Amino acid sequence: MLELKNVVKNFGGLQALSGVSVRFAMGEFVGLIGPNGSGKTTLLSCISGLYRPSEGSIQLDGREISRLGPHRIYRCGIGRTFQISKVFARLTVLQNLYIPAMTVAELDRTGMQQRAVEILRALKLDQLAEAPAERLSGGQRKLLEIGMVMMNTPRFLLLDEPFGGVHPVLKNQLEEYLKDLHLSGKSIILVSHEMSSVFRICERLVVLDRGALVTDGPPHEVRADQRVVNAYLGGKHAA
Ligand SMILES: Nc1ncnc2c1ncn2[C@@H]1O[C@H](COP(=O)(O)OP(=O)(O)O)[C@@H](O)[C@H]1O
Ligand SMILES: [Mg+2]
Repeated sequence: MLELKNVVKNFGGLQALSGVSVRFAMGEFVGLIGPNGSGKTTLLSCISGLYRPSEGSIQLDGREISRLGPHRIYRCGIGRTFQISKVFARLTVLQNLYIPAMTVAELDRTGMQQRAVEILRALKLDQLAEAPAERLSGGQRKLLEIGMVMMNTPRFLLLDEPFGGVHPVLKNQLEEYLKDLHLSGKSIILVSHEMSSVFRICERLVVLDRGALVTDGPPHEVRADQRVVNAYLGGKHAA
């Protein structure tokens, strides 16, 4: 289990997170939503070790991880993707998958190749295995980035806006992939503005507004919560 207690993150005078307490159980598929600037990316960055919380604690299975660097946290089984995907443009799609696997070397060469091929197939990128990543569309790059994280079979997958700018066909494909990962027992925290996707695939929603947790519950309850409607969804989704 991943547990955050009173996590505060200050950037100079700005408080991006003002005491967030939330728990994520193993195997859960949680949507993290909220308006722009509400602290979603900052929360993922605190969990993944990119930022050190100013206050509070983050525990994975009872072990404090909030003072560990990103590499250590990655090795604990927490993988993340970024709002702007980070792939190696000049390398092929397949080579991109090898890079993260080489940094955590428990796989031999054959094992690495097998896993890469499986992941590309699941993401329907296998036809592009030998293409340089710079030839991929924005959406395909997002898929590749998720594939790169999956090479190390993280227990927790933190995804920052994976649907942003993704073509509808790829978006459906990505939704299916995430649903399959969830069914296979993966824990997922999904940050997304795509309300229809989030409501469709997540089993629980956590809503942030101005650095604070507004509500936390099953999608149908969150959708009806007046504080969420006011803070975020507005009239369009309220119905
Ligand atoms: N590295 C940073 N330095 C200064 N301010 C930041 C930094 N990262 C985020 N912020 C600020 O923190 C707040 C929350 O940002 P962010 O976590 O990116 O929100 P979200 O992902 O929900 O849109 C915003 O006001 C943003 O400008
Ligand atoms: Mg963000």
